This record gives sequence, C-alpha cells and structure tokens, in this order.
Amino acid sequence: DHDAKGLAEIAARIAERAAARILELRAQGVSVAASKSSATDVVTAADQESERLIVAAIQEVRPDDGILGEEGTGIAGSSGITWVIDPIDGTVNYLYDLPAYAVSIAATVADGAAYADGRRAIAGAVCNPRTEELFVAWQGGGATRNGEPIRITGQEDLSVSLVATGFGYTVERRTRQAEMVARVIPRARDIRRNGSAAYDLCMLAAGRIDAYYEEGLQPWDYAAGVLIASEAGATLIGRDAATPPGEPFMVVGSAGLVEELRSLALGA
Ligand code: IPD
Repeated sequence: DHDAKGLAEIAARIAERAAARILELRAQGVSVAASKSSATDVVTAADQESERLIVAAIQEVRPDDGILGEEGTGIAGSSGITWVIDPIDGTVNYLYDLPAYAVSIAATVADGAAYADGRRAIAGAVCNPRTEELFVAWQGGGATRNGEPIRITGQEDLSVSLVATGFGYTVERRTRQAEMVARVIPRARDIRRNGSAAYDLCMLAAGRIDAYYEEGLQPWDYAAGVLIASEAGATLIGRDAATPPGEPFMVVGSAGLVEELRSLALGA
C-alpha cells in the first residue's frame, strides 16, 4: 500500500543533495567534532549538517513519517514509514578523503525482519559523491547504479570469491572480528575492508565484490544497502532469529555462498 517507487525517488533526490553538500564541506576542510563509542568512532560537523539537511528535506515532503538517524535523530511518525538515514557512512574515509563514503537513506516498514531491528527497507538510495555514483532500489523494482540495472556476480565458490567486511569501533568487537577474518582469509580469494558498509553493499550489488559480511552493524549502515543488494539478486542471512537487536550479523552474497561463509565467519 506504500508507493515504494515514489519513496525511492524521494530517497534518491535527497541523498544526492546531501552528498553534494558533504563534498562541498569536505573541500572547506574537515575536523573531528566529537568521538562516540571510542576515539576511533568519529563524527564531523559535516555528518551533523548532512543529517539536519536530510531530516528537513524528508519532513518537507513526508511530514507524518518517522525518522531514525545515526547522529541522534529519533522522530516517531504516524504513517507506518520510518526513514533510516546515515548522513555519512564511512566517516573515517571522509576524514582522510578516501573515496569510499556515502549518504544512505532508506524508507522502512515494520515487519519483524530477524537480522535487523524488526524493520525492512522498501525503498532506498546510497549516493557516493566522490565516485559520482547513485544507487537506488525499491521493493520488486530491481536495483540501479546511475540509472543502469545492476546484478551481483552470482559467484558460489568461496575460494575464488572477493569478500568484503568491516570492523566496529570497540576493542572487544574488533578482537572478535579479527578472529573472523583469520578464519575467512585462508579460504577466500581475498578480503577487502573498504570502510563503508552502505557502499560495500552497493559494490556487491554491482558485481565488484562477491560477498560481504559484518557483525555489529547499526540499521542506518545497512538499511538501504541491503535492499539494493537483494534487489540485485543477493541473499541475506543473519546469525539466527534470536540475534539481539543492535547486534546484527549478516552475510550477503549468492544463495550458494552465504551459508558457508556464515559458518566460517562464526566458527560454527
Ligand atoms: C561504519 C562503516 C564501516 C563499518 C562500521 C560502521 P560510519 O559506519 O560502515 O564500514 O565497518 O561497522 O560503523 O561510522 O562510518 O557511519
């Protein structure tokens, strides 16, 4: 009953605007505004401005929707749609001017999705202003990169798969993630750590990596990217249905690869 295509168009338009703005701000220089969970988990003034811009733009066209944002926005809506936004996913790359960062915007509905926090995206957009790429998807509508349809590689053999992952910000999490990498790397073609979960999921959707997994993502990191990847043919699995909220573990890739990669990463 929601107009997923229309929501995707809104997400795309706003993601492009915010992406253009963070690029402009980057050119003026960037400094760390605050640290969050640890000294490695930074937020810049651009994250905050981008979030303000996105929230205002959504409220202008969809005043009854909820909004959940990485930099603290929590607005309860009444329409059944909650926007889940990451104003800059890949903030550390942004700080260093490495090109893997993006604005991520998803329109989600509550449906009890087990891997997540009970919400699922029906429309989403991820925009990387440095590579001039806009990825868009809506439920049942396929996924595109700059307007062209994209598709996963479909690779099912782990030994020739390029696998991306990411790391969280706490020592405890990184220790566990290092153990996961130690189990995966001898068995895969290679590992990439690009630095933006949203962009990784789009790279998977576009066939530039074969699989992606990570533990401990937050909804704004993956809400749009997971939809884009699945509309491009990817299968997603989590640890199991009992994974506590805020601790999602996900593997995304071809149907034939995800289960093997999941057991390997978890040491199961
Ligand atoms: C981070 C990035 C990174 C992933 C981390 C995320 P942020 O998001 O997506 O690739 O490994 O888990 O927290 O902090 O740059 O928005």
